[in-house]
Amino acid sequence: MSGSNDHIDDSARRYGNDVTGEAKAAAIAAAARRLQSGKLVAVPTETVYGLAADSTNADAIANIYRTKGRPDFNPLIVHVPHLVAARKLGVFNQLAARLAECFWPGPLTIVVPKTPDCPVAPAVTAGLDSIALRCPAHLLMQELLKVSGLFLAAPSANKSGGISPTIAAHVTRSLGNDAPMILDGGPCHNGVESTIVAVRGNVCQILRPGPVTREELETALGKAVVITDSKNVAGDKKIESPGQLSSHYAPAKPVRLNAVNVATHEYHIGFGTINGHYNLSADSDLAEAASRLFAAMHLADNSSLSCIAVAPVPDKGIGTAINDRLTRAAS
Ligand code: TXA
Ligand code: MG
Repeated sequence: MSGSNDHIDDSARRYGNDVTGEAKAAAIAAAARRLQSGKLVAVPTETVYGLAADSTNADAIANIYRTKGRPDFNPLIVHVPHLVAARKLGVFNQLAARLAECFWPGPLTIVVPKTPDCPVAPAVTAGLDSIALRCPAHLLMQELLKVSGLFLAAPSANKSGGISPTIAAHVTRSLGNDAPMILDGGPCHNGVESTIVAVRGNVCQILRPGPVTREELETALGKAVVITDSKNVAGDKKIESPGQLSSHYAPAKPVRLNAVNVATHEYHIGFGTINGHYNLSADSDLAEAASRLFAAMHLADNSSLSCIAVAPVPDKGIGTAINDRLTRAAS
């Protein structure tokens, strides 16, 4: 047997996002049953697809690490339906609670100290005394959390180090035969992973840039936030956010950044007036560019051209998250 991922035929494991209310409810119920029995389900969120399991089930969590080929020092995010549920797992001081109130449900992950009786399997937090919590906004995911009654650990649903999935087909492509049932919620709205912040006392530190920008965090908190310098965290196991390794999101091909011009052997990902083979946003809209970034990288990786070149993207707002992912893809 190959882990607990049962191999069911394609028709049974894919659910269209435009199904009727009844079919949608049946798909969510089927996903909830699988999760309750310790199996994995690929789930849609507003950022990227996740590979979900019951966070309190050690065998199910081991299966996430196995399926992704993920190093076990890299902890997982736990998804919760609301702040009340989150407080069972993590200790929210005033600052952390303010962040949850301002940005949940939504693409913000908050790292807080674990509660003394936190029920998640030890492997979820990889031995840390903190836990990463997120309340996702995607309606299918919210419904699944409610119906299953579980706290769902879910990393992005791709092989470790690969490109994150923003449509169901990316999950199948990355996980292949290891892909479990996929709850298909259509293309992910934001397209890059959640912003991760750590709250320590009165300090809020951005560990991973994402859809919730530094400016939005500072406005909500009325003070400056600390930024992690990603150049200082590469490859070090004592790092603040272990997943922030310098090489990540890596296509199989070499990636060249800030490419205004392109060579004949390169697939050109464009932005604004630089069209390329695929333009992230002809209108220079950074939110649109973020939502199309991983799809562009999947297309470039699949093309017959041997290298990837990417046009410059402004480093402001969500552009910071885009450039963070591009830099890692090129490392
Ligand atoms: O948007 C997202 O966050 C997606 C969707 C599925 O929710 N999930 C996602 O998970 O991006 P993943 O596993 O690809 O990235 C989780 C990151 C990793 O970099 C990990 O190191 C960090 O969260 N993390 C988890 N627990 C942590 C903790 N206690 N302290 C610091 N970083 C933590
Ligand atoms: Mg990931």
